Amino acid sequence: MKNVLAIIASPRSLGNCELYVKEINNHIPEPHELHLLRLQDFNIKPCRGCYICLFREHNCIIDDDYPLILSAILKADALIVTSPTYCLGANATLKLFFDRCLATYAKADLLWKKPCISVGIAGIKGMEGSTRLDLEKFTSMMLFDNKATVMLYSAMPGEIFMSEKNLQTAAQLGKALFGEPLHENSPACPVCGGHSFRFLGGDRVKCLLCSQSGHISMNDKEPVFDIYKEYGIFLSRHEVDQHYDLLKNIRLVYKQKRDYLKQIISQYLDSGEWIKPLQEEK
Ligand SMILES: Cc1cc2nc3c(=O)[nH]c(=O)nc-3n(C[C@H](O)[C@H](O)[C@H](O)COP(=O)(O)O)c2cc1C
Repeated sequence: MKNVLAIIASPRSLGNCELYVKEINNHIPEPHELHLLRLQDFNIKPCRGCYICLFREHNCIIDDDYPLILSAILKADALIVTSPTYCLGANATLKLFFDRCLATYAKADLLWKKPCISVGIAGIKGMEGSTRLDLEKFTSMMLFDNKATVMLYSAMPGEIFMSEKNLQTAAQLGKALFGEPLHENSPACPVCGGHSFRFLGGDRVKCLLCSQSGHISMNDKEPVFDIYKEYGIFLSRHEVDQHYDLLKNIRLVYKQKRDYLKQIISQYLDSGEWIKPLQEEK
């Protein structure tokens, strides 16, 4: 029996994200149990940027529910990730969670290529902003094997099922989770498969998922991306380890240069007046 975990980044109980996960679940052919996790139910504090998780037994020192969520992910055989669009991007809880991802890389072997599908739901067509890219970033940084990311549109809870196409897509996604990835028609980055780009002037273009750049040209009315891999991050298991080592090394180099860096920092100690909350959190 497989364990499928749905990560729902919507605060709305029985909202579109939750309902859609449950519909996808009806179409997963493999025998499985569905576990649901709403990020808003958990206390997730922001990363402090201390890098301690890279060392002390790879544990994050923040006392919150992060380990609970990570443990649910580690136990899962496959994941469904859904987020509504909030203010032209995915809901902030998703970023809050994956900003803590440095603490996960010690578990890379267990996370690597877990099958996953991701769904963004925006209220208004054309107002989804970066939601799809945010989901692709999440699944890529969590080292999952993202079989499909789709963007759907519906504002009121339940409205998602007023479209026959959305129901068909749910069926396709259910089958894709443990099966073949969904084929995308739109042009993609040849390095990472990302679908979002920034134009840098002339024919230069940069993929916003893997951050590699190159050139764009037209072939039979289709854009062709000629993008080079200068530095990979998570395209192979080896690259994950390389990235992890690089981060650890930055901390070691920092220790060597600490006195010099402190001199630089000391010139900036006293500028400006800080506005603080009324009662500082302990
Ligand atoms: C605070 C807030 C911000 C939103 N921002 C956007 C937006 O920028 N673009 C958009 O298309 N829909 C936006 N929506 C609408 C939701 O994406 C939409 O209602 C979606 O179906 C919600 O999914 P849920 O029912 O699972 O929560 C916003 C909703 C809220 C509450």
